[in-house]
Amino acid sequence: MILVTGGAGYIGSHTCVALAAAGLDYALLDNFSNSERTVPVRLAAITGYEAALFEGDVRDETLLRDIFDSHRITGVLHFAGLKAVGESSLKPLDYFSNNVIGSLSVVQAMTHAGCKRLVFSSSATVYGDGRPMPLAEGAPCAATNPYGRSKLMVEEMLGDLERSDASWQIARLRYFNPVGAHESGLIGESPKGVPNNLMPYVAQVAAGVRASLSVFGGDYPTPDGTAMRDFIHVMDLAESHVAALMKLQCSGGGLVLNLGTGRGTSVLGMIGAFQRASGRRIPFQIVNRRPGDVANCYADVSRAAQLLGWRAKRTIDDMCRDAWRWQMGQAQ
Ligand code: NAD
Ligand code: WQD
Repeated sequence: MILVTGGAGYIGSHTCVALAAAGLDYALLDNFSNSERTVPVRLAAITGYEAALFEGDVRDETLLRDIFDSHRITGVLHFAGLKAVGESSLKPLDYFSNNVIGSLSVVQAMTHAGCKRLVFSSSATVYGDGRPMPLAEGAPCAATNPYGRSKLMVEEMLGDLERSDASWQIARLRYFNPVGAHESGLIGESPKGVPNNLMPYVAQVAAGVRASLSVFGGDYPTPDGTAMRDFIHVMDLAESHVAALMKLQCSGGGLVLNLGTGRGTSVLGMIGAFQRASGRRIPFQIVNRRPGDVANCYADVSRAAQLLGWRAKRTIDDMCRDAWRWQMGQAQ
């Protein structure tokens, strides 16, 4: 059985669908600090499989020991953590506690149970600024905010762990910009309050929940002047986790992989695609750049293709169509 921490969250829930499609048995562990209790029910409706659910915190060592003692866990997908870059500068200790202490707690429980297969959710943010594009895994890492630092600290901890004991099988997956939703429209991204990220904001403007979008920066050195990102459909990302688990099982650890499409799409490009998908007009105004943003960020995805035999296959139009279907379900 695979333990999915943060399994009720955005990427974790979609990954559960991919695990079920691959015929793998899994259990969820989540404290619902950033997800809804309806998600496991919806997951069961999609998959036809009622997974075990443990409600609690990854920092609760007693709970983790109980889970490992009472179930035969063969691998862990560790999604649980906090992810808002801006908030991390206001509440750095929350980020180090949930993300760093939380990850330490998970690997300690795994060590105790003798379970040594782990997939960790890292982020393209670990590369820091000013690197040439596309970003390859060998690019130097440097965090520019507490969130990124928490991810980098965990990556380094996991690297040390693997060097100390070759029987660990660890993948550190560096996600670029996950967007979209499962095609059923039953699960998706539901940010609490005002969305920080582009796609959920665009979706809410299209739905009339918000009046208009502020496009942060129109003077970047890109073809249309707006910033470019490597958006990846969350189901493509989800499926890569199954491929990573298989790879770990077959040929050991030491996997550090970028997960993106390898292509950049501009903010205006995304707005245009979302207008086509939704049939709605998306009012926007170009405002100042957002501090900390880079002009362009996209992945070199050749290593993931080579080692996992995996490539993102869904298009920007697929991402917008599925995000819109999910958004429409929210509005009802
Ligand atoms: P999310 O907030 O939707 O999901 C995280 C889940 O973990 C939530 O259900 C939350 O309730 C749970 N959680 C948080 N802290 C916990 C704790 N201490 N104990 C137990 N459960 C806890 O986020 P997501 O977008 O699904 O991201 C999943 C992982 O991927 C995170 O580690 C995030 O940093 C990483 N990541 C996300 C993105 C992105 O853009 N979404 C990009 C790169 C990396
Ligand atoms: C994309 C582009 C914005 C909102 C973040 C994290 C990263 C990773 C993924 C976790 C940028 C512009 C946005 C808006 C806009 N998460 N934008 N108006 O910043 O590339 O990445 O999420 O690991 O670490 O930093 O994603 O969606 O916030 O922004 O113009 O209302 O859209 O300026 O150019 P970002 P994003």
